[in-house]
Amino acid sequence: MSHKRVAILISGGGSNMVALLDSMVGDHPARPCLVLSNDADAGGLVKARARGVPVASVDHRPFRGDRAAFEAELMKPLIAAAPDILCLAGFMRVLTANFVSHWQGRMLNIHPSLLPKYKGLHTHERALAAGDTEHGCSVHEVTAALDDGPILGQARVRILPGDTPDSLAARVLVQEHRLYPAVLRRFAARDRTPVCLS
Ligand code: GRF
Repeated sequence: MSHKRVAILISGGGSNMVALLDSMVGDHPARPCLVLSNDADAGGLVKARARGVPVASVDHRPFRGDRAAFEAELMKPLIAAAPDILCLAGFMRVLTANFVSHWQGRMLNIHPSLLPKYKGLHTHERALAAGDTEHGCSVHEVTAALDDGPILGQARVRILPGDTPDSLAARVLVQEHRLYPAVLRRFAARDRTPVCLS
């Protein structure tokens, strides 16, 4: 059985990336081929290396906001790894429509809210400020519009009295580590049936 090749893009500690790597074993239809970061010091690169996965990094800072030039460099390790699927996992650079169009239909992202609510940043603070009783996370296909593509899975958490952005983020992260591997397993098997966890 030939496995789907998965590249994972990270910017930080990479806990979602680790959950994905640890899930791609046994009868899982995919295997990791690269972990790529825009920060050579990202903690997640150490964790990926320790699991024997090839790693690379392309620092965005020298490009001083020239996203097309940064992405042209980012494409080099990606093309070399020849992934079938890209997973954005805590990757904090906004990608251009040109880059997205190259990977259209095979690039996923995890976002810490119940999309379409709270696209962008500070999702936990905004859910608390709005007095919501429920929150969660979503995995979606990446399109040119930020946090906007077709939703492939969601996991819900109740907002509890006394919750802070940190306490809420911690409970959502636990759900993220369940949701992303479940969606990737289906997506790699060409199954776009949404995953719903609670
Ligand atoms: C996660 O909450 C993810 O949803 C968001 O950034 C955080 C990254 O966490 N995009 P990690 O780097 O995967 O630990």
